[in-house]
Amino acid sequence: MKEKVIAALDVETEEQALSLTKKLKDYVGAFKVGLQLYNNVGPGIVKKIADQGCKVFLDLKFHDIPNTVAGAAEAVVGLGAFMFNVHAAGGKKMMQEAVKAAQRKAAQLGIAKPLIIGVTVLTSMTEAELQQEIGIQKTLPEQVAALALSAKEAGLDGVVASAQEIPWIREVCGTDFLIVTPGIRPTWAASDDQARIVTPQQALDLGADYLVIGRPLTAAADPREAAQRLWG
Ligand code: C5P
Repeated sequence: MKEKVIAALDVETEEQALSLTKKLKDYVGAFKVGLQLYNNVGPGIVKKIADQGCKVFLDLKFHDIPNTVAGAAEAVVGLGAFMFNVHAAGGKKMMQEAVKAAQRKAAQLGIAKPLIIGVTVLTSMTEAELQQEIGIQKTLPEQVAALALSAKEAGLDGVVASAQEIPWIREVCGTDFLIVTPGIRPTWAASDDQARIVTPQQALDLGADYLVIGRPLTAAADPREAAQRLWG
């Protein structure tokens, strides 16, 4: 169970991040470094966390032309992340180039290729916004499923999705495809700004492979104690 939990380090400073990794490393499988922490302290944070013997999911959601994303993917492999992500909306060619570059760099370094995860439709986006602002004709489930399939066909290892989206993705991508799920709240935790939440056990029952959990762990008075109560 522990290996499936990725604690989101949504903090500003290296001190805050490393204090959390020390407290939580025996209770979670990996730590997520996102745009806030990365842009505040720089790429060195990935190695510092890895040096504590922890895995890092680098959540920077690359979305650019294939050549640029390939270069970024190569750099991420060098940093030592075990997982990173790209926007599936960047296109199949972009995703394929990211996979190729990551494979190449990992082989060069003699390490395993990081898992590459696609972002489909951001869970903050409504169907109305998707259709009216972005001009997509499909419904939200259709668009999520189409992008997930495109990610799988491009050779990605999985997608990030809300628990609610898991059945749509499993239907088109099958079980041999990772689903990383945020929006997790144990029954005792506040929902904060997450609108559609499930408990850790519910997320697993729905078929999630990894659970991204932030504030219930990182904002707890005692993060270790909170981590031990995730499944209660
Ligand atoms: O604190 P909380 O558990 O809500 O944190 C969830 C983490 O997952 C945050 O880092 C957030 O950015 C990320 N995330 C999310 N919903 C998505 C994609 C990522 O909450 N659809």
